[in-house]
Amino acid sequence: MRFVNSYQNKIKEIVEEKKLTYFIDTMGCQMNENDSLKYKGILESMGFKESTVQKANLILFNTCCVRENAENTLFGRLGFLKHRKLKEDDVYIVVVGCMTQQKHILDKIKTSYKFVDIVLGTGSMRVFPEKLYNVLFSNKKEIEYIENDNEIEEDVPIIYDDKYKASVSIIYGCNNFCSYCIVPYVRGRERSRKPEDIINDITKLAKEGYKEIMLLGQNVNSYGNDFKEKYTFTDLLKDIEKIDGIEVIRFMSPHPKDFKYDLIELIKNSKKIARQIHLPLQSGSTRILKEMNRKYSKEDYLNIANKLKMADPEISLSTDIIVGFPGETEEDFKETLDVVKKVGFDQIYMFIYSKREGTRAARMEDKVTNEEKVERLERLKKLYEENLPLLNKKMIGKTYKVLVEGKSKTNENLYTGRTSQNKVVIFEADDSLIGKMVDIKIDSEHLWYLKGTIENR
Ligand code: 5AD
Ligand code: SF4
Repeated sequence: MRFVNSYQNKIKEIVEEKKLTYFIDTMGCQMNENDSLKYKGILESMGFKESTVQKANLILFNTCCVRENAENTLFGRLGFLKHRKLKEDDVYIVVVGCMTQQKHILDKIKTSYKFVDIVLGTGSMRVFPEKLYNVLFSNKKEIEYIENDNEIEEDVPIIYDDKYKASVSIIYGCNNFCSYCIVPYVRGRERSRKPEDIINDITKLAKEGYKEIMLLGQNVNSYGNDFKEKYTFTDLLKDIEKIDGIEVIRFMSPHPKDFKYDLIELIKNSKKIARQIHLPLQSGSTRILKEMNRKYSKEDYLNIANKLKMADPEISLSTDIIVGFPGETEEDFKETLDVVKKVGFDQIYMFIYSKREGTRAARMEDKVTNEEKVERLERLKKLYEENLPLLNKKMIGKTYKVLVEGKSKTNENLYTGRTSQNKVVIFEADDSLIGKMVDIKIDSEHLWYLKGTIENR
C-alpha cells in the first residue's frame, strides 16, 4: 500500500504557526531504527523540527519487546513525561512499535498512562497523520489507537542521519517461531517487498550519493518465499549489485538454516557484498538449538562458517548469542564457548535469556539462576575480548578499501571509516575525502578500532 498523507497541509499550518518540535526515542533493532527514520520523514514533511526530549512538543517512543528490560524503560520514561503533559500545553506523546502489539502493554497504557495521545502498532505509519490530525484538531481525550494490519507500506518519506550509508527494509515479519522469541507474534508473518520497489529505492539513494546499503529483515534469506514466481534473496542481491554508485552491500540478519551454497558462491564472487556476515548462532549446543527451534546443529553452523572462510579468508563473522536459555547446562554453555573459539567472531551481540510471555520457552522449566546467567555472559565476553586482538592483528600490514565517513569524534585531526569487514579505522585525511572510498594500510590494532594510513594519496 502506498503512503499518502492527505493531512500534510492542514497539520503543517498549525505546526508552523506554533513552531512545534519533535523527539524520537528508539529502542531495539535496526528495523526499528529504520522505522524511526520514516517517522522522522513524516514529521518533518509536516513541518516539525527536531528537538530534545526535555523541550520537544511531540515525543515518539518506538518500542521493542524482544527483551523484558525495555518495558521498564518505556514506563519509566512515560512516567517522567507525565509532569510535562500536566504542566505544559502542546505536549503530545506517541507510542509505536513492537511493544504496542502486546495486549498487557496496551492495557497498561490505557489504564495507567491515559495521558498518551496515540498508540500505533507496527506497520501502521500511513494512519499516523490522521491520528495526529485528530489529536491536534479535536479535544477528544481517549487514546488514538490502531493495531498492526500487516500491510507493506511503500513511499513513506524517510530521512537518513547519514549521507553515505542507508538501510533499506526488504522483508517484514518472521515465520520461524524460535521458541524464545516474541517477534513472530508481534510482527506477523513474512512479507517481502516487491523487488522493483526495493531497486527503485536503492537506485534513488545511489543517485543521491549513497555508497553503502544495509538490507534489513528479521530473516533476509527468506526473502521471496512468499512470491508466486521464483525470485530469491540471491536474485535480489544480484540485481542490487548492478546499481551504479552502490559500492558496499550489507544485510542482516540471515538465518543459518537458510544459508545455502548459492549465497556463499555469490558472496565469494561479489565485489560489492561486504566481507562481513552476521550469522546469529544463539547457542553452540545442538541440544539447546533444538529446544530453541533453530533447525540447525552446532556442526551445521560450523560448516557454514568454514565454507564462508574458505570462500574468502577476509570474511569476518559476527553473531548473536543468548546465554541462560531454560535448561542450559554448563556443558551446553561450553559448546557455545567452543563455537566462539573455533569461529573467531569479530563482533558478538550477547544477551541474557529473557522470558517472553506467550512464547514456547516461557513454559519451559528455567533452572539457570540469575547469577549463573550473569557469570556465563562475563565468561563469554572475556573469551571474545581475548580473541579479538588476534583477529585484528591479522589485518595489520594489509590494505583495505574504506569509505571515509567523517571526522573522528575523539580526535579533531583524524578521520574515521569502516572496512568491508565492518572494522572501525582511524586515519589522517582531509574533508575533501569525506564520502569517498580510499585504500588504507592498517598499522596497528586497538581492540575496538584499527589505525591506518591512506595509500596513494
Ligand atoms: N531473550 C534474550 N535474547 C533474545 N533475542 C531474541 N529473543 C530473546 C530473548 N527472549 C536476541 C536473539 C536475536 C536478537 C535480535 O535478540 O539473539 O538474534
Ligand atoms: Fe525471532 Fe527467530 Fe524470527 Fe529471529 S528468526 S525474529 S530470533 S523467531
